Amino acid sequence: MLNIKIIIGSTRPNRFSEHAGAWIYEIAKARTDMEVEVLDLRDYPMPFYNEPISPSYIMGEYPNPEVNNWAKKIAEADGFIIVAPEYNRGPSAVLKNSLDSISKEWKYKAITFVGYGSVGGGRSIEQLRLNSVELWMTPTRNAVHIFEPWTLVDEKNNLKAGVLDHYEGSAIGALDNLVFLATALQEARAKISTGK
Ligand SMILES: Cc1cc2nc3c(=O)[nH]c(=O)nc-3n(C[C@H](O)[C@H](O)[C@H](O)COP(=O)(O)O)c2cc1C
Repeated sequence: MLNIKIIIGSTRPNRFSEHAGAWIYEIAKARTDMEVEVLDLRDYPMPFYNEPISPSYIMGEYPNPEVNNWAKKIAEADGFIIVAPEYNRGPSAVLKNSLDSISKEWKYKAITFVGYGSVGGGRSIEQLRLNSVELWMTPTRNAVHIFEPWTLVDEKNNLKAGVLDHYEGSAIGALDNLVFLATALQEARAKISTGK
């Protein structure tokens, strides 16, 4: 069973990430090949990265306790589903900060994306793919791209009924892709740690 973390990538009031996160959680939870946990960045209020030493040189604990909490959660995972907004053609700062603040806990793990925006969060996801490679992760080819999220909620910010249904096919594609990569990397990590 793979341990997959869903990361809610925005923290502002009325965020769409909550809707997209709840939706992908239900789809992922129904599968038998992964156990999923939602990590909401609101619950991990890390400072903006401002340390004298790069996280990639930190082998033990991180100096900041909030960052350590985050690192422990990420260390548990075999793979990640990032729920990714697009802010100015890139990921949100709070999400990028959560990637930058730690290092070894991401290494040799798989990652996929549920993005949203005027072009389905495509530009944010492409940047996140590059960021993830630098952190030694393997991103999936497939991802979910939800178009014009502001049209999918009512005036009280409730998700309109059924509006994400037609994205289920792309969610299955992305999650199948994630499982393939996360399984291969899980086996590889086990071999490396036992010296085989
Ligand atoms: C600061 C800011 C910048 C934005 N820039 C873009 C953008 O470049 N491309 C885009 O498709 N949507 C953009 N949007 C619209 C967001 O896609 C939309 O507001 C989305 O719901 C934001 O995610 P969130 O609700 O989870 O915070 C931007 C929104 C904000 C607040």
